[in-house]
Amino acid sequence: MKKENPAKEHYRRLRELSCEQLWSQEVTAFDRADERERTAGVGVIRAVGVVFSESGNSAQKEAARQWLLRLLDDPAEKVRRYAMAALPKIGADEREEGGLLAVLEKTSSDRERKFLGLALEKIGGSATLQATSSLGPQTARKVEANLARLGSPSAVRLDRILPDASALRIHLHCRTGLEEILQDELRESGVKFRAVQTRPGLVAIAPQDSFALADVYTLRCFSSASIVLGTVKSSENETEALATIITSREARRIFETFTSGPIRYRLDFVSKGHQRAAVRELAGRVYELSPTLLNDSREAPWQINIFQTAPGCSVELSPRLRPDPRFAYRQDDVPAASHPPLAACIARLAGRLENETVWDPFCGSGLELIERARRGGVQHIFGTDRSAEAIAVAKENFAAALPGPPESTFACCDFRNRATVAGLGFVSLIITNPPMGRRVPIPDLQGLIEDLFAVAATVLQPGGRLVFANPLPVKPAGDSLKLEFRRKVDLGGFHVHLEKYVKPKK
Ligand SMILES: C[S@@+](CC[C@H](N)C(=O)[O-])C[C@H]1O[C@@H](n2cnc3c(N)ncnc32)[C@H](O)[C@@H]1O
Repeated sequence: MKKENPAKEHYRRLRELSCEQLWSQEVTAFDRADERERTAGVGVIRAVGVVFSESGNSAQKEAARQWLLRLLDDPAEKVRRYAMAALPKIGADEREEGGLLAVLEKTSSDRERKFLGLALEKIGGSATLQATSSLGPQTARKVEANLARLGSPSAVRLDRILPDASALRIHLHCRTGLEEILQDELRESGVKFRAVQTRPGLVAIAPQDSFALADVYTLRCFSSASIVLGTVKSSENETEALATIITSREARRIFETFTSGPIRYRLDFVSKGHQRAAVRELAGRVYELSPTLLNDSREAPWQINIFQTAPGCSVELSPRLRPDPRFAYRQDDVPAASHPPLAACIARLAGRLENETVWDPFCGSGLELIERARRGGVQHIFGTDRSAEAIAVAKENFAAALPGPPESTFACCDFRNRATVAGLGFVSLIITNPPMGRRVPIPDLQGLIEDLFAVAATVLQPGGRLVFANPLPVKPAGDSLKLEFRRKVDLGGFHVHLEKYVKPKK
């Protein structure tokens, strides 16, 4: 068996201690130790940073901060470096910034300067900005972004209108298999956008003229939306070409129109891992070309995604909206809650009749019912689930989404016991995302889906529909229900079939 590094082992042991144990035993021993022992025992500094930030009260944190500040004067460079790294974790401010800047003035070591820069990137303010000539441009950029974030919050403005936008491409990303339903939604939505291309997992649209992001977010069936800023062919100097696109006149017009406050963005080389060096290099070049564009991973209103595609990289700008305004009615969640845009697709596939009675036998947090009710024409919805917590969440979400009509009844029961639910007789629509047996194990999933078909065949009025995400290749018995639609949908690592059945009118 591989032997563990003793310093790591020491840290791992300290990490398990409480604040009190660390302080009374380890910190006291560390303070009494000589320089050689302190250098060997720096794990205690790291452990104090982590344990006190996670579980210290305010007095304990303050004591730890004062201790770390004293360690910034330690004769051993390694001790000072560990103290610099631990300070930002415990919530440092101007006093600690001053302590770090004092070390910066004294030091002649490049390595120490680098660690000071990393700590000051996290906690530095205007005093650090004065000192950035000795810290380098990356620290300046990060500190400026920190100051911008703290000074005035920035946000995406959904209501602002971007004129003359017909040359833009907007990518609506969706689960593979749902493109057709998204296109249908787009067609119904009116004249603002036209579809220009469809690929698996993507519908590309173009505005007819001017548009607001709020217009895009009237569509409910996509997962995420992004504005295409440009494409870089693989042969070009990639960093320079990407930075040129991100700082182009058109990109800045988009940023400026749709942002209130400082323009801050996260960068992601999609599916390529952290790519810290590439992010640093690109963010640095963007800042040189356009210093109002600040790379900042914390609470940034924008995400710039760089996708590797066949001809090169596609650079896309996506608003980071938390919560997604389309589904902001969600007050709470259940363990296997539906992906909200999938619920919207299921509701759309169900179609819209007048005076509908709709039942979701596995309603969970209620998303399919809410999405269907929002489309109108519903008189009464019934939601059942065998989990009492799910029923409480569904009620809460439904009340937040639709405070007025339609009437709603939620009941905790197995779907096979529907007869116990007052008023739940024949229905015109069953709409559901049933258990898949993935996140929550189901003992007999096949039996459950077979029972769903049998119950639907009994409970649906003639002409009534069953619309659901079928996790198994199970079909209804005989010709009790007629298949009208079936599409394979990728739910992120596994497939289901989105199916629509109609009960024959005889
Ligand atoms: C995939 S989740 C539904 C998610 C839901 N559409 C939402 O918006 O959150 C499946 C739900 O089925 C419920 N369930 C599982 N077996 C059931 C049964 N036999 N009868 C009723 N509900 C059941 C689970 O408690 C779970 O809430």
